[in-house]
Amino acid sequence: MKITAAITGVGSYLPDYILTNEELERTIDTTNEWIMSRSGISERCILKDKDKASAYMAAEAAKQLLSKKGLSPLDIELIIVATVTPDHQYPATANIVADMIGAKNAWGFDIQAACSSFIYALTTASKFIESGAHKKVLVIGSDKMSSIVDFTCRKTAILFGDGAGAVLLEPTTDGTGIIDSRMYSDGSGKKYLYQPAGGSLMPSSIETVTNKEHFVVMDGPAVFKVAVIKMAEVAAEMMERNHLTSDDVAFLVPHQANKRIIEATANRMGVSMDKVMLNIQKYGNTTSATLPLCLAEWEHQLKKGDNLILTTFGAGFTWGGLYLKWSY
Ligand code: COA
Repeated sequence: MKITAAITGVGSYLPDYILTNEELERTIDTTNEWIMSRSGISERCILKDKDKASAYMAAEAAKQLLSKKGLSPLDIELIIVATVTPDHQYPATANIVADMIGAKNAWGFDIQAACSSFIYALTTASKFIESGAHKKVLVIGSDKMSSIVDFTCRKTAILFGDGAGAVLLEPTTDGTGIIDSRMYSDGSGKKYLYQPAGGSLMPSSIETVTNKEHFVVMDGPAVFKVAVIKMAEVAAEMMERNHLTSDDVAFLVPHQANKRIIEATANRMGVSMDKVMLNIQKYGNTTSATLPLCLAEWEHQLKKGDNLILTTFGAGFTWGGLYLKWSY
């Protein structure tokens, strides 16, 4: 019997501070009406503590998952953290998280593919399960986007939030789990969404800080145009490759970057909005955390055997789709 990677538990963490559209109206030239109609976002959670970042949120999500499952951190063999806002350039956030939760038997590393990081990480992790190499793998998406967003820039300040979500992967032979996935990449899209400074091409300097080059730079309409096509295309491809009709799909689990992109994806799949996991209004775009935050929020509505289509689009450009049969 074929071994597949089943999601057998989920956990999440969201910071307490809620940044509303009304608060943004007071600090930048925008309106609640504009933000809601263009993006679907009403508020987002922000991690205010100066001494806490992505590793802390990832560890909190992992601890919640382990406690729900009654598992010891010593049972975990591998931790993969999806993030674009690692605590440091190195060591990897996964190493720090392993230490924070006491996963002394685990090795780990980070995966960075912008807003597609979590699907890339989930696909990578599934290979360690399918090969028989590991039996308990944590995949965590965590981003402190507030650390790289310029809150004086109305084009980006309205879009992003902080948060983390974690899933546990274990082997199964019951026909559920990750059935199929397809990742894509097109680096020629780099100029439309990126963080100019802080890497080896443009190391940090007084000039880069003065010029605000450590913040997210985005050409929103250019990203929107490609995202709306590619996210829908890959979701439809997942259905076609796996002979699924819209009736077979229990839920679409889309990356939460813009409600209009999500609606276009659902429309292309022929799936009604009541079958779409949508929480962008509360959290904004939490980058690597959007998909596991959805799974954690909808966990109690899911049944064993439910067909889920996960789909995402992000900087790079990167995009991907994943077909998952829910395992519990
Ligand atoms: N409040 C009010 N007006 C704003 C604004 C804000 N926060 N931000 C921009 N505007 C203005 C613009 O200056 C522009 O004015 P102009 O026509 O006088 O120049 C107008 O609103 C329209 O801006 P535009 O950027 O064309 O809006 P849009 O409909 O494309 O919506 C986004 C902007 C960012 C919501 C949308 O482009 C988007 O979601 N893009 C994709 C983002 C994404 O997916 N990013 C992450 C990938 S994972």
